[in-house]
Amino acid sequence: MHAAFEGDRVVGGAAALALQMTVPGGSLPCTGVTAVGVDPTHRRRGILTRMMRAQLDAAHERGDPIAALWPSEASIYGRFGFGLASFAVELQVPRDHSAFALPVERIPARIISAEEALDAFPRVYDRVAARTPGMYARSREWWKSRILPDPRERRRSAGPARRVLLERDGEPVAYAIYRHQQAFEYGVSTGSLLVVEAFAADPAAEAALWRYLCDIDWVATITASLLPLDHPLLLLVTDMPRLRFTLSNALWVRLVDVGAALSGRGYRDGGEIVFDVVDTFAPWNEGRWRLADGRAERTDAEPDVLLPAAELGAAYLGGVTFGQLGRAGRVDEMKPGALGRADSVFRGDRAPWCPETF
Ligand SMILES: CC(C)(COP(=O)(O)OP(=O)(O)OC[C@H]1O[C@@H](n2cnc3c(N)ncnc32)[C@H](O)[C@@H]1OP(=O)(O)O)[C@@H](O)C(=O)NCCC(=O)NCCS
Repeated sequence: MHAAFEGDRVVGGAAALALQMTVPGGSLPCTGVTAVGVDPTHRRRGILTRMMRAQLDAAHERGDPIAALWPSEASIYGRFGFGLASFAVELQVPRDHSAFALPVERIPARIISAEEALDAFPRVYDRVAARTPGMYARSREWWKSRILPDPRERRRSAGPARRVLLERDGEPVAYAIYRHQQAFEYGVSTGSLLVVEAFAADPAAEAALWRYLCDIDWVATITASLLPLDHPLLLLVTDMPRLRFTLSNALWVRLVDVGAALSGRGYRDGGEIVFDVVDTFAPWNEGRWRLADGRAERTDAEPDVLLPAAELGAAYLGGVTFGQLGRAGRVDEMKPGALGRADSVFRGDRAPWCPETF
């Protein structure tokens, strides 16, 4: 935690979580930027800028190749080299139109206590997190302090958290945490089931888990937020147009150390790309980087792509393509076809997913 002082009074703060984040083909130490705030009496005097400076320098010294955050205001962090790298989807499924296209395996489900969940849920979560860019390792402490407690202030207008575990042959294969938000009109339920998080280790367990959630009585709508763009629920249901789909931003990523970050993830092929990176806030990243066979090194070669560090952060997890960035005018293609080549190297097999805000 960095703090800004006036005399002995704290007037601002910025925290960094020590995360281990999944990236395509592996995982890396990641500074999770959070709890950023400046007293209303001290705003617009450069305090945030100085805290970001101190925080980035500390991350660089620590050797974290990347940093990530959930912004409360998207206009703040681009100047510090963070780029919009993933999206969050909220899906609302009308229970009356929640039929699935294919038959669903029957997997026994049990409602369990927070104590039992502490051992069972990580066995599913860890498998999903290991293959999903944007997810990060949860320590036992994280489960105990952030995920499983159910204090009243977290419930808002909904009921207590329910924890359901699905086991195949005694092995945890899926779980969900959800709440009921009950409402009735003329004796008919208009309430919602609010899914806090739901993970499954394999496709059959995924279908069984969502079938369970969509079959709970006294519910009109099943609402799940913080889903990835390519969540299977979109294709599990027969009647997809009945789903309500809302898109918002999720993780913003900054490459603290361009060389270590580019060399630290996996690639679809070993193709060669030369990036010319503009990074005034982290000048050690400035200049040309040649990526070949999954390794990034300094080079004098002519660049294929000229781009700000924030846009390299945006493309890093595979959730935003260089083609998209080019069409939005955010990166410059210096050689014909370079953006397409960069995409064929960077493309992952799934959208990044960060299922919790921090
Ligand atoms: C956002 C916040 C931390 C900014 O702190 P600050 O000390 O006033 O920021 P700075 O003076 O260092 O401003 C840095 C730059 O960001 C811009 N900026 C600051 N707050 C902004 C905002 N809310 N929206 C858009 N731009 C903002 C400033 O104009 C300045 O731009 P410039 O460099 O082009 O002049 C502060 O207003 C705050 O605490 N807000 C409420 C909590 C919050 O939103 N925190 C962020 C959580 S992700």
